[in-house]
Amino acid sequence: MKQGFLALILAAGKGTRFRSDKIKVLHPLAGKSMLRLVVDCVLGLKPQKVYVVVGNQKDEVKKDVSLRKVGFVTQQKQLGTAHAVLSAKNVLKKEMEKDVLVINADLPLLRPETLRPMLALHRKKGNSLTFLSAELENPTGFGRIIRDGDKIRIIEEKDATASERKIKAINAGVYLFKIKDLLAALPKVSNKNKKGEYYLTDVHEILARQKKKVGVYTTKRAGEIFGVNSRYELAQAAEVLRQRKIKTLTEKGVTVNDPSTTWIDLDVNIGVDTTIHSSVIVEGNSIIGRQCQLYPFVHIIGSRLGNRVRILTSTMIEESTIKDDAQVGPFAHLRPNNVIWQKAKVGNFVEMKNTVFGRKSKAGHLSYLGDCDVEEEVNIGAGTITCNYDGKKKYKTIIKAGAFIGSGTELIAPLKIGKKAYIGAGSTITKDVSPGSLVVARSKQVEKRKKVRRTEKK
Ligand code: UD1
Ligand code: CA
Repeated sequence: MKQGFLALILAAGKGTRFRSDKIKVLHPLAGKSMLRLVVDCVLGLKPQKVYVVVGNQKDEVKKDVSLRKVGFVTQQKQLGTAHAVLSAKNVLKKEMEKDVLVINADLPLLRPETLRPMLALHRKKGNSLTFLSAELENPTGFGRIIRDGDKIRIIEEKDATASERKIKAINAGVYLFKIKDLLAALPKVSNKNKKGEYYLTDVHEILARQKKKVGVYTTKRAGEIFGVNSRYELAQAAEVLRQRKIKTLTEKGVTVNDPSTTWIDLDVNIGVDTTIHSSVIVEGNSIIGRQCQLYPFVHIIGSRLGNRVRILTSTMIEESTIKDDAQVGPFAHLRPNNVIWQKAKVGNFVEMKNTVFGRKSKAGHLSYLGDCDVEEEVNIGAGTITCNYDGKKKYKTIIKAGAFIGSGTELIAPLKIGKKAYIGAGSTITKDVSPGSLVVARSKQVEKRKKVRRTEKK
C-alpha cells in the first residue's frame, strides 16, 4: 500500500516586486490565482492533507482557496522559507514517520505529471530530501545547485559569486522531506546571508553534512519551472496557460480559428464542434455546448450556453444562461442573470438584465429589458424600453405568451401584458393590458393645415 504524505504550500510572503496592494500569489492567470493553480497541482498528487502557510493578507488568501480542501498554518512574521516551514511544526510533528511535499506558491506552471516521478524516486531511494531541479537557459532569480563531490548545496542568487551565477542547474522550489529529518534540521538554519532570512535551501547542506540521503530530481520539462516574481513574468506565465488551454480544447474537438487572440479561462468547458472565431474571451467557469459559434469580439463571463447557440460579433454576456439554438448579437449586452430560452433571438443593441426571455421570442433591435419575464413567442419591437426603476426600487414587467409589443414602446413597471395582447407602436404603457386586446397609448397626431410660417426669404 502506498504511504500517504502531507503537502505544505508556502504562501505567506508579500511579493514586493509586484508593486501591488494585493499579495503576489492572489494575482490571477487564466482565471485562477497563482495560489489556486499550485493548490490544484498539489491536489492532483493526492496527498493525505494539504496545508497552506499564510501570513500577509491571510484572510484574503483563505477566501481565495475556500472551495478547496486545505488547512492553514500562520507564519506571523515572514522571516524566510525555512521559517515558513517551521511555522507548520505542530501539524508536521503529528506525522513524524511520513514525508512532506514543500512547494513555493509562485510556481503556477507546474503539473502533477511532472512531480509524480519525483515522488516515486524519493520513495524508491529512501531519501531524506529530494528536490526538484532543471537546467535552465536563463537561471536568473533561482537558487543554483553547487556540487562538491557527492555533496550538494544551494546558493541563493543574491549570495552567489559571478561564476556561481553561471550555473544553469537550479533549485525549483519543490521539495520532498522526511518529516523527522526536516524538523531536526530546521532549528540549525541561520539567517546569516544577504537577505537576513532563514533559507529553506540551507537544509540541503545540513542534511548532507549529517550524511542523510539528499537527491535531486531533474525534470526535462524545464518550461514548467517558472517562478513568477514580477508582473511581466505573470503575463508570460499566463500566456503559457492560455496556449495550453487552447491546445487541450482543440484536442477535444473545438475549432479555434485564431489561437493568438483567443483567451479561454482554464475552468471553461466547451463542447465538440463549437467554433471560436478570432478575438474571443471566455471567462470564469463558463460552459459552452456543442456546435456553437462564438463570432469575433465576443466576451462571455461565467455563463452557460446550450448546443448550437450563436453569439454574433461584439457581444458581451455576463452570468447568464442561453438555451439550445438561441442567437444573441451582434452588439448585444446580457448583464447578469438572464435566461434566454430555446430558439429565441436577441439582436443588435439589445440590453437585458435579470430577464427571462421565452422560447422563440424575439427582440431584434435597440431595446432594454430589465427585471422582465417574457414568455414564449413574444415579439419585442425596435426601441422597446422597460422603465423598471423609479430611482429607489426596481419593478417587474411580465409579458405573456404571443404578445406583440410595437416599436418605440415604453413599458412602465410594475406591469403585466396579457397573452396575445397587441401594443401599438410608440405607446407608453402604464396599466396592465388584458389578454388579446389591442392597446394604443400615444398622443393623437394633430394636423394644422397651412400653419407653417415660412422663415426663409424669397
Ligand atoms: C526560493 C528559493 C530558491 C528557488 C526559488 C524558486 C529559498 C531561500 N530560495 O527563492 O532557491 O530557486 O524559490 O522559485 O527558499 N514565503 C513564505 N514565508 C516567508 C518567505 C517566503 O511563505 O517568510 C513564500 C512566498 O510567499 C513564496 C515562496 O515562499 O510563495 C518563495 O519565496 P520567494 O521569496 O519567492 O523565494 P525566492 O527568492 O524566489
Ligand atoms: Ca520566488
